[in-house]
Amino acid sequence: MSRSATNHACSECGHQVPQWLGRCPGCGAWGTLAPEFVPGGGANARGGSGRRTPVVLPARRPRPLREVQAVEAGRLSTGIGELDRVLGGGLVPGSLVLLGGSPGIGKSTLTNMVLGNLAGSGHGTLYVSGEESAEQVRLRAERLDFDPAHPTNPALEVPILAETDLDAVLAILVEHAPRACVIDSVQTLRSAEQGGSPGAVGQVREVTGRIMEVAKEHQIAVVLVGHVTKDGGLAGPRVLEHLVDCVLQFEGERERPYRELRALKNRFGSTNEAGLFEMRQGGLVEVLDASARFLAEATHAPGSVILAAMEGSRPLLVEVQALVSQSELEQPRRVVSGFDRSRLAMILAILHRHGGVSTAGADVFVNVVGGVRVEEPGCDLAVALAVASAARGVAIASGLSGGAQSATRACFGELGLTGELRWVGHPERRLAEAVKHGLADTIAPAGSGPGSCEAATLREALALTLAREAAGRRQRIAA
Ligand code: TYD
Ligand code: MG
Repeated sequence: MSRSATNHACSECGHQVPQWLGRCPGCGAWGTLAPEFVPGGGANARGGSGRRTPVVLPARRPRPLREVQAVEAGRLSTGIGELDRVLGGGLVPGSLVLLGGSPGIGKSTLTNMVLGNLAGSGHGTLYVSGEESAEQVRLRAERLDFDPAHPTNPALEVPILAETDLDAVLAILVEHAPRACVIDSVQTLRSAEQGGSPGAVGQVREVTGRIMEVAKEHQIAVVLVGHVTKDGGLAGPRVLEHLVDCVLQFEGERERPYRELRALKNRFGSTNEAGLFEMRQGGLVEVLDASARFLAEATHAPGSVILAAMEGSRPLLVEVQALVSQSELEQPRRVVSGFDRSRLAMILAILHRHGGVSTAGADVFVNVVGGVRVEEPGCDLAVALAVASAARGVAIASGLSGGAQSATRACFGELGLTGELRWVGHPERRLAEAVKHGLADTIAPAGSGPGSCEAATLREALALTLAREAAGRRQRIAA
């Protein structure tokens, strides 16, 4: 018999240790190890020590891949184009999708709409709510707007089960075998066999594993709603991300209506795609003209730059804003939103060394407007120009096209450590998007092709965008 029937598991990464430690040896997080009950006793139960179990020949034998029948499973359209695209073409029967996001971002709204759409198309659905009562879910469903082609609100046709006991949920799943099921949220379900409170690592792993078995066997597409911690990671268990087929993250600023949905992992599609939504009275509405909206909202003031970004396979014009202000702190602030913080440090160093723009002793704030997150190297130049424009208090010079002056100009490109501007993917799509929205002379790396105003280095890009205005301003001041 082992001395103890308790292990300690990290709530961040799921790493297990036999005794409590202040810091997790797995991921280095502090204070995340909590006791986890191991059913049937300690280390022996896991086969970790003591007697060896006899080797049993497996029923399945390895076979050449050539003999494996790969049938592309029919995808289930969610009725929401942006979501289908992020999923890689819709829900895959028998798969598990984890939808993460902070409270109030719209996870329940989105999943209610998906099940409503599926129910409206005649598919069997099930909504398991461990967080809200059936009455609360009904009140939300009543608010949702659906295609007027539906004579009645299809969200009200979705069967709801307000339950937190895993066995009860699995029994209903097996009995009804719906095409799609939503578990809202995975952290509220509890398995009676596993000790610990709902949401603990062991519980979440057990709950997910058992749901997965049923989903695979009955070909049910399952969406697990998951919580997100303060620092943006999926709460509880990194372990969960390894188990599921697809991890979707719902992001956005609570004060603004825009919501961005991205795939962090996708066994059935790309992880580059992002979908944009707006939270309205009648639920989430897909934003299909994002570039036009962001452009219309852009300030074009000093510190504002338009970035021609790629969101997966789609070009997007988005405003990047910077503020540079004298700091009263010994270590000035570097605050970013929608962009990688460590990348900002590098860009500031390049700006100083190769652009002659110093931000030493200044607080620097960078924000990608609209709650959008840009995760591609093409945004370096926009961040650098926004900071330079803010530091100098000079707006980016307008582009000139055939004598007609456009409102502003867009830019894109990756910065190298020697101050060079590097080529990034899909320049033609970025340029076409800029032209479509009336922006000319987009600043782009060499080799980007016709329609761009090419710059080989950051210094050249600065000269193209800031020097002329600066000269004009100096003249005005002199006059
Ligand atoms: P919800 O889907 O409950 O968020 P989550 O499940 O991620 O916690 O959405 C919560 C917010 O969305 C809430 O503040 C109200 C707002 N909302 C709307 O603005 N319009 C709507 O039609 C609905 C259903 C919600
Ligand atoms: Mg919810």
